[in-house]
Amino acid sequence: MTEVNGEVDDSVLVEAQGVGKAYVTQAGSVPALEGVNLAVKAGELVALVGPTGSGKTTLLNLLAGLETPDAGEVVLAGEALGRLNEDGRADRRARLVGMVFQRFNLFPGFTVLENVGLPLRLMRRPPFDAHRRAQELLEQFGLAELAARYPGELSQGQRQLVAVARALAANPPLILADEPTANLDSQAARAILSRLRGLVADGAHGVLLATHDVRAASHADRVLSLRDGRIVKETVLEDGRDSRSVLAELV
Ligand SMILES: Nc1ncnc2c1ncn2[C@@H]1O[C@H](COP(=O)(O)OP(=O)(O)OP(=O)(O)O)[C@@H](O)[C@H]1O
Ligand SMILES: [Mg+2]
Repeated sequence: MTEVNGEVDDSVLVEAQGVGKAYVTQAGSVPALEGVNLAVKAGELVALVGPTGSGKTTLLNLLAGLETPDAGEVVLAGEALGRLNEDGRADRRARLVGMVFQRFNLFPGFTVLENVGLPLRLMRRPPFDAHRRAQELLEQFGLAELAARYPGELSQGQRQLVAVARALAANPPLILADEPTANLDSQAARAILSRLRGLVADGAHGVLLATHDVRAASHADRVLSLRDGRIVKETVLEDGRDSRSVLAELV
C-alpha cells in the first residue's frame, strides 16, 4: 500500500510494484512486462499507450488478478493479490474491478441483458436487481432494443458498447478498459469517454484505459507510455494545454 508521509493512502485503487511477466510458449519464453510500477487513484483517468505487443493487455490482466506476475506484486485496494488464492482474487475482482476486454469476452449463450447483468449476479444480487440495472444501462447506452439478442447477433461496435455497459454494471471503483473505443464511430467513442470522465469526477472511481487512440488518451489526466514491457514515460496532461499535439508523439 502506498504511504504518504507515513500514512496509508487509501485513495490508491490499484498498484503495480516491480511487476514482471513472461509467457512460456513452445517457441521459448516471451517477455511481456518488466519492472512495471504504477498506481491508479480514485478520481483519476489514466491512459496506457504503446505499440502493439508492448504489454498493455498483459498489464491490465495482471492488475485485475486474471494472471499472476512472475516478479513483483499487484496490490488491489490495499490487498496484495499474491497472498490470495484464486477464489479470493475472483471475489475481490467481482467487487472492485470492471473489466472491458479487448476481445469483449461476452458470453455467447447469454442475451445482451444477461451479459450486462452478470457482474451483479456474480455478487449474488437478486435477478430482479441485475435485470433492472442492466436495463437501465442499456437504455443509457442506446442499446435497449438489443436486450434480447445474443452477442453473435451484434456488430463489433455494439459488442464493444455491451462490454463497457457490463463493466459498469456493479458500479466498481476501478475500471480497467482495454481499447474500449477501438470499434466505435467518433460519436459513440466520445460518449463512452465522457461517461468514463464523468465517473472519475465523483472522486470515488478510477479508470485505467489502454488505447492507441489519441482522442481517447486526450481525456486522461496522465498518460503512461509502455515500450517493450516497460513504462518509459509518464506525461501529465494539463487543462487548457493542447494535449493532442503532446499526445501525437506518444500514441
Ligand atoms: N498468452 C500469451 N502467450 C504468449 N505470449 C503472449 C501471450 N499474450 C501476450 N503475449 C505476448 O506478450 C507481449 C505483450 O502482449 P500484449 O497482448 O500485452 O500487448 P498489447 O500492448 O496489449 O498489444 P495490442 O496493442 O496489440 O493489444 C507480446 O509480445 C505478446 O506476443
Ligand atoms: Mg492488447
